[in-house]
Amino acid sequence: MTDCKLWIPLTTFLIITMLVVTEARIPTTLEGPFKPVTQRLDPSLRRGSDDLPMNDPRLKKNVTSNFPEQIALAISSPTSMWVSWITGDAKVGSNLTELDPSSVASEVWYGKKSGKYTRIAKGVSTVYSQLYPFEGLLNYTSGIIHHVRLKGLKPKTKYYFKCGDSSIPAMSEEHVFETFPVPSPKSYPSRIAVIGDLGLTKNSTTTIDHLIQNDPSMILMVGDLTYANQYRTTGGKGAACFSCAFPDAPIRETYQPRWDGWGRFMEKLTSRVPMMVIEGNHEIEPQVAGITFKSYLTRFAVPSVESGSKSNFYYSFDAGGVHFIMLGAYVDYNSTGAQYAWLKEDLQHIDRTVTPWLVAAWHPPWYNSYSSHYQEFECMRQEMEAILYQYGVDIVFSGHMTLESALQLQTTYQSLEVHVI
Ligand SMILES: [Fe+2]
Repeated sequence: MTDCKLWIPLTTFLIITMLVVTEARIPTTLEGPFKPVTQRLDPSLRRGSDDLPMNDPRLKKNVTSNFPEQIALAISSPTSMWVSWITGDAKVGSNLTELDPSSVASEVWYGKKSGKYTRIAKGVSTVYSQLYPFEGLLNYTSGIIHHVRLKGLKPKTKYYFKCGDSSIPAMSEEHVFETFPVPSPKSYPSRIAVIGDLGLTKNSTTTIDHLIQNDPSMILMVGDLTYANQYRTTGGKGAACFSCAFPDAPIRETYQPRWDGWGRFMEKLTSRVPMMVIEGNHEIEPQVAGITFKSYLTRFAVPSVESGSKSNFYYSFDAGGVHFIMLGAYVDYNSTGAQYAWLKEDLQHIDRTVTPWLVAAWHPPWYNSYSSHYQEFECMRQEMEAILYQYGVDIVFSGHMTLESALQLQTTYQSLEVHVI
């Protein structure tokens, strides 16, 4: 373990504070002890937290049909940002017609001053359906999902924006984000939050409120986002298992409106802080004809093309002096496959004099002594571990292990502080 300096499976989330260069210097724990700046994990959090109901105000749509909602940012590069949102009404039922994505434009008006939008970017829109043509199960078709890439931005600069369709007109409220600093060993985002296995429960509310208080500059979302695939039992029916509640169902039905509820729930954070996602097992969501991952692949913009990947299942990006590699555990990870070839290429092109920190993330941990999920991804470890050691990955983040105990850890490794909170 000489190269892999720290390995952390997640419970709720972490905050990483980069200390190399910050305008207001944050002391290291070696200079402590200090009064913690974060709050202790709420000990009342427990397994089996209730799902937030669909009529919870945080999950309900609060704009009229063509106005943008579920606005979310994702890093494209140090000088470009993805803006995503949804318009129109998703539908659940048996005979559904998909909305026409071309019926609403995808525009972002933006500029460096509030209310003064000097540039307009246009993007793409799409819809998806989750189909279960089986007795007793419901189909779903989404609202119109928009993705626009803002290019030519200045690093470490605030941008104000509205998104929507100006011809209707149906533009959003103004939002603001800050671009990351240029990749350099002397510039870092001030705080990065790492979340896994979030869900949409009362515990999720505590986690997100706590995270907002810590004012992160980026969210690393390491898979298992909404648990829409469990809602029919945990929330919709309160049954112990899907096969008990639906013994005749030929397929496990996921309840896609949970994704829309989750997008609304997250919007106050994701409309101003970029969120970088990677898929977990709860995103597989099989539907008719063997189709999987439809919601994950359609809803999120990720810098796959920007990082030379041909797949939204794996990609990389820079955040100041940190190069992040996001790996797909539920697609081919064999050393003869496309992901491995891309990973090798990506690793070969990292300049550690520019991005000294190398962080990798994927959903299921390779090292796990807990009975649940034990050695579940041993095959992936055998295929990919050696190359990550070879190129000196500093930190790996994973989710998947939803531990029940409250963890509190604060440690310092060289210039990086990691708080598990
Ligand atoms: Fe998982």
